[in-house]
Amino acid sequence: MSVTELFGGTQARAAGSFETLTIRRPDDWHVHLRDGAMLKAVLPFTAAQFRRGIVMPNLVPPVTGIAAASAYRERILAARPEGSDFTPLMTCYLTDITAPDEIERGFRDGVWAAAKLYPAGATTNAHYGVTDIAKLAPVLERMERIGMPVLVHGEATDPAVDIFDREAVFMEQEMLPLLRRHQGLKVVIEHVTTAETVDLVRAHAGRAAGTITPHHLIINRTSLFQGGLRPHLYCLPVAKRERHRLALRKAATSGDGNFFIGTDTAPHLRSAKQAECCSAGVFGGATALQTYVQVFDEEGALAHFEAFAAENGARFYGLPLNEGTLTLEKRPCRVSPAVAVGDEDVVVFRGGEELPWSLGEVRG
Ligand code: DOR
Ligand code: ZN
Repeated sequence: MSVTELFGGTQARAAGSFETLTIRRPDDWHVHLRDGAMLKAVLPFTAAQFRRGIVMPNLVPPVTGIAAASAYRERILAARPEGSDFTPLMTCYLTDITAPDEIERGFRDGVWAAAKLYPAGATTNAHYGVTDIAKLAPVLERMERIGMPVLVHGEATDPAVDIFDREAVFMEQEMLPLLRRHQGLKVVIEHVTTAETVDLVRAHAGRAAGTITPHHLIINRTSLFQGGLRPHLYCLPVAKRERHRLALRKAATSGDGNFFIGTDTAPHLRSAKQAECCSAGVFGGATALQTYVQVFDEEGALAHFEAFAAENGARFYGLPLNEGTLTLEKRPCRVSPAVAVGDEDVVVFRGGEELPWSLGEVRG
């Protein structure tokens, strides 16, 4: 299948010319690729856009050991479309019993690129996560010593905390103490959703960074209730007020090197979303770059797009920048509403809409 078919086809080219933007090939620093039939169905979208992806370890069971990560990596490589050079970068799911030696060995052997810290119960498949972050100190000290980043899902888990305040409460009660305890640790605050977290990242520039999803640049919490309840827009952290969305757009497009792409594309079957208890996760992977570039265009910041998409993340992780280029075209693109997975499907973020930007050619 061609990239054009994959993304639902594009309208016939206008007779005149259209604007294009060619950038170094980008990376996705936060992606849920799942496994089995779902992996096979969603990976082509990520692989068509991104050269590398930081793969989340919240499978069932979670990816907590080197052997499991290596096997998962092989399954991802085997599921790539023909000719794809997409490189999965694996992460270790931290638990209360993670051993510092396993972390160091996997990092030195090139199995892990980073470790993921889920507060226990914070989100999908996070029940094996960390119950007391202070007790993780030996693991975090080791990571600090070897230069391995920790990727944090920053939400409080106390059910009494209002869901819209969970990120703010976590930042105060857990993130600031963590940053004080581990001054040399590289920390990625994943899927930033508030203006205050943006400020926190900026205040710890160089050792803390933030990923920003496409959906949090487009929707606010009112979108979740637009005309009725919208299960396909429900994710964690949940979208916040409009002022936060605007702060995220500013942060992403400002040229600030501490922010970069992390789509948090998190596919769930339609039946798991349109359910009595809807799973958290937005499948943003099929429209990610088209959405990000649209936001940069709307903000008059296309000059900063390459750094956000293809430089800031690699620099923070200490990885080489990609060779090769990807071209984006300001040419309308009609997006497929859903992607088939076996007998079911997954609803695409912005599916069915006409987007102003399309993916163009990948070179090298
Ligand atoms: O909405 C979410 N979905 N947030 C997460 O942190 C996990 C993800 C998933 O795995 O579905
Ligand atoms: Zn995620």
